[in-house]
Amino acid sequence: MMISKRNILITGSSGMLGVDLGSELARDYNIIGMDVKPSAVNHQLSAFIKCDITDKDRIIKSARDAKPDLIIHTAAWTDVDGCEEEPEKAKKINQKGTENVAISTSELSIPLIYISTDFVFDGNKKALYTENDLPNPVNIYGKSKLEGEKKVAALNKYIILRTGWMFGVNGKNFVDTILDKAKAKKEIKVVDDQIGCPTYTKDFATAIGKLLSVVPIRDTREIYHITNKGAVTWFDYTKEIIKIRGVDNIQLVPIKSDQLNRPAKRPAFSVLDNSKFEKATGFVMRPWRDALREYINAKK
Ligand SMILES: NC(=O)c1ccc[n+]([C@@H]2O[C@H](COP(=O)([O-])OP(=O)(O)OC[C@H]3O[C@@H](n4cnc5c(N)ncnc54)[C@H](OP(=O)(O)O)[C@@H]3O)[C@@H](O)[C@H]2O)c1
Repeated sequence: MMISKRNILITGSSGMLGVDLGSELARDYNIIGMDVKPSAVNHQLSAFIKCDITDKDRIIKSARDAKPDLIIHTAAWTDVDGCEEEPEKAKKINQKGTENVAISTSELSIPLIYISTDFVFDGNKKALYTENDLPNPVNIYGKSKLEGEKKVAALNKYIILRTGWMFGVNGKNFVDTILDKAKAKKEIKVVDDQIGCPTYTKDFATAIGKLLSVVPIRDTREIYHITNKGAVTWFDYTKEIIKIRGVDNIQLVPIKSDQLNRPAKRPAFSVLDNSKFEKATGFVMRPWRDALREYINAKK
């Protein structure tokens, strides 16, 4: 007897994580993409719905028509400085938009997986953040994502996945910014007073697939932290990017965050502890350096 594949609706399916997640899960599930615009690279979708998550009636109707067994909500406004300058827009997309997605899952009695961020923490801990640590965001982006978490945590069936410092083929990211700068400049200034863990969207997508295969999401209300392994400052991360790329005529200058004058403050330390995820799945994420090497070498 043929067992039909379950349907997963992914919001933000044209984004950096959304595309890799769709590709990863398409082997085992029918993937319905949802975003404000289609992606040129997303060939794996069984359907695509153009929908803005801030339009409550539309997302509820679209989800009802699509009949998913699960929604994975990756759509967000991820411009950290932009959020600081336009807090109402951040609230509309990251908080209200998430509430709309949450309502649509509760209407259908299906579980919701919500992608959240290491930026919900204030960075004062100086040891790995676990799921039991209290969030205390230092910027509007982190606050809006935390408010989104609260809407999700009011549901009966949900998983909140926090990750951080993502890079991937299908989005604007720090690695590409540094590689571009290295072509055009002799000197690059980078902050050395923020520590996090770079995470490859492809690896994160694999981890989500592992979690789906072992955790019975039907009755789950859990938070998991998932990043690649390790910890690094933006400065040492940049050194590694330059080293892997083989650029030798560039000078890297360490600076402090306040010298950058950016609108949004960032947590000084936001490394997440993967232990709970590892225990649940038996799967250990590879070190960020290995993931970064694969990402850069694939571009050569
Ligand atoms: N990037 C990171 O370092 C990082 C770290 C930790 C957690 N996260 C979280 O991971 C998730 C995915 O991040 P990402 O880097 O893949 O982001 P991304 O590349 O910006 O993808 C998000 C997608 O959502 C779409 N979107 C934005 N507003 C929307 C709306 N109102 N309705 C429907 N779709 C909308 C975006 O379209 P536009 O491009 O047109 O806006 C984009 O296609 C987000 O929830 C983010 O908060 C990201």
